[in-house]
Amino acid sequence: MRNFESINGQMTIGGVKAVDIARKYGTPVYVTDEARLRENYRNVSAAFNSRMPTRINYALKANNNLAVLRILEKEGSCIDAVSIGEVELCLKAGFSPDRILYTGTSVSNEELSMLAARKVPINIDSMSEMRRLAEIAPGHPISIRVNPGVGAGHHAHVMTGSKTTKFGVPKGAIVNAYSEAISLGFNPFGIHCHIGAGVQVIDPFLEVTDVMIDIVNEIKDVLGLQLEMLDLGGGIGIPYKPEDHEMDLDAMADAITGRVLESTGIKQLVLEPGRYIICDSTVLLATVHDVKETPDKRFAGTDAGFHTLIRPAFYGSYHHVAVANRFGAPNELAYDVVGPICESGDFIAKDRKLPRLAEGDVLVIYDTGAYGFTMASNYNARPLPAEVLVSEGQTYLTRERQTMDDLIRGQKIPSRLMV
Ligand SMILES: Cc1ncc(COP(=O)(O)O)c(C=O)c1O
Repeated sequence: MRNFESINGQMTIGGVKAVDIARKYGTPVYVTDEARLRENYRNVSAAFNSRMPTRINYALKANNNLAVLRILEKEGSCIDAVSIGEVELCLKAGFSPDRILYTGTSVSNEELSMLAARKVPINIDSMSEMRRLAEIAPGHPISIRVNPGVGAGHHAHVMTGSKTTKFGVPKGAIVNAYSEAISLGFNPFGIHCHIGAGVQVIDPFLEVTDVMIDIVNEIKDVLGLQLEMLDLGGGIGIPYKPEDHEMDLDAMADAITGRVLESTGIKQLVLEPGRYIICDSTVLLATVHDVKETPDKRFAGTDAGFHTLIRPAFYGSYHHVAVANRFGAPNELAYDVVGPICESGDFIAKDRKLPRLAEGDVLVIYDTGAYGFTMASNYNARPLPAEVLVSEGQTYLTRERQTMDDLIRGQKIPSRLMV
């Protein structure tokens, strides 16, 4: 877990006091530290590229803020996109189409046509998608997503590589899929898999690398097709809890690239980290509005609920919480940190030991850069929060807080109901 600097008991991020950011932009607000984002990108890129050519396709499903994309574009990152909307955001942020790889599922013909028009290479998820693309855009650049039968991750919802999930072409059918791709006029450049998200150990990555190496070699032996690119997807976990360990990227890169270089003719490795790159660069700031004690519980009621950060409610995920305006004060009492949503499942933390809280305290919720804002909603008609970038002591508003007008925009009441 990341350490933040404290100045006279005030937590700082990117050289700015969190309470000053809360005062200036309001809460809840997501705050991203540009220096940390760049450092994370460089760490993962260097670990792999020092061993073999590796393209880092940042998975923007984790965080699609345009300023974040712009920073990663300047760092030299490429992109893993899952929807035409994500593709549009990346084009807007300055990525050329050849730096984007689209990996969709349940893809419509309309989306395929739009991708083809934008010349974005496509990772095929099913035979249906491949055959439809052959009609829509013959010869379009493709690779194919295989379901490797190896799944891992922090929750069952995100273990995408297991046999029973909806993703990819089953590994038993993959040689035939490449054979059909060739007969349909495609020249597939690579192969893809993704085991899942939030994987905290190296073993599943090595297991799937071995599976993929066997497949790559079988395709070469049976079809005479040497694939150039092996995409092992994303999923590198981060330490959310104080006792969690960081992933040893050097050990991971060593083991993966060693196997690939030794046993295949693959020229380029691709990784699709989302969480690893963005997660610990960002905190969510929330204000305590209400402190309530019942005979059974003590609640800290904040303005961040599961409409702001759904991970605790959806996955049971842990996010570290601290008090920004009394940073480092000893933990005294156990609180449920809850939000303003009318469901008892609306919580950020449960039975969490914190300093004694008071109305007006600013809470800092750690590691919220990934799957934080992108999974936020307007549930209970609550506006989406603001996003702020901090860099060298300066703050920049990168996404405005929604207004009440945003909540009604696009809605129409049939005129017959207006009389
Ligand atoms: C195909 C694919 N690639 C990459 C990712 C990114 O995963 P993470 O953010 O855990 O690195 C995901 C996440 O679900 C994914 O589905």
